[in-house]
Amino acid sequence: MRKKIVAGNWKMNGSMELLNTLVPALAEEAKQSQAEILVCPPALYLGDVQRKAGDHLLVGAQNCHEAQSGAFTGEIAAGMLAEMQLSHVLVGHSERRAIYGETDQLIAAKTQAAIASGLVAVLCVGETLDERESGRTLDVVLGQVNAVVSQLGLADWSRLVIAYEPVWAIGTGKTATADQAQDVHKAIRNALADYGQDYADAMRILYGGSVKAANAEELFTCPDIDGGLVGGASLNADEFISICRAAN
Ligand code: G3P
Repeated sequence: MRKKIVAGNWKMNGSMELLNTLVPALAEEAKQSQAEILVCPPALYLGDVQRKAGDHLLVGAQNCHEAQSGAFTGEIAAGMLAEMQLSHVLVGHSERRAIYGETDQLIAAKTQAAIASGLVAVLCVGETLDERESGRTLDVVLGQVNAVVSQLGLADWSRLVIAYEPVWAIGTGKTATADQAQDVHKAIRNALADYGQDYADAMRILYGGSVKAANAEELFTCPDIDGGLVGGASLNADEFISICRAAN
């Protein structure tokens, strides 16, 4: 049985005022949650969030560089995140692919750097509306997944989580239906089975894209949906806690 994860991606949002109330509430919820609860604030807030997270709330970064060190102004290496006791890092978020031009090859390198540093990499994949409407959803999504997992040893998979986030559902309020999401999750798991059935069965695959308290339970009861990667709703304690409880 896969343990569910509910992760909050704050993106470039938040403040000290917000985290001083939100994080203690999530730290309390995480003590009793059957699901893992992870928050990924902007890098500047990571230390303050960690100090308030307690022993159960997981804290991760939203990105990392693929190199261990060097002349990369403004960047943060995976090893630095691990040194600061962070547990997870998002890689390949659609906003980094679309806005910053991150390629599958770069995302694979970031994933390898994260796992080699001892972090859990949350690999984000997803199709655009045009790709879905042209029937290319699985070509795109499975291509993104295989571009990364084909570069990993099977032993690395224990430090990999996949998040399927249809781009057309992110920030739009237009959530994928449970059937749409389950179909893609199942296809991802079937593709992973080509590498090893046990590894595929153990992989946690999260859904992201307008997850709300109102739709979380239907999504999370799908057999191949192992939790959620939540954006906007993760910035509201009551809403995010309701989503976390739907994963119990
Ligand atoms: O990484 C999660 C994010 O892309 C989903 O955003 O606001 O649609 O929950 P949102």
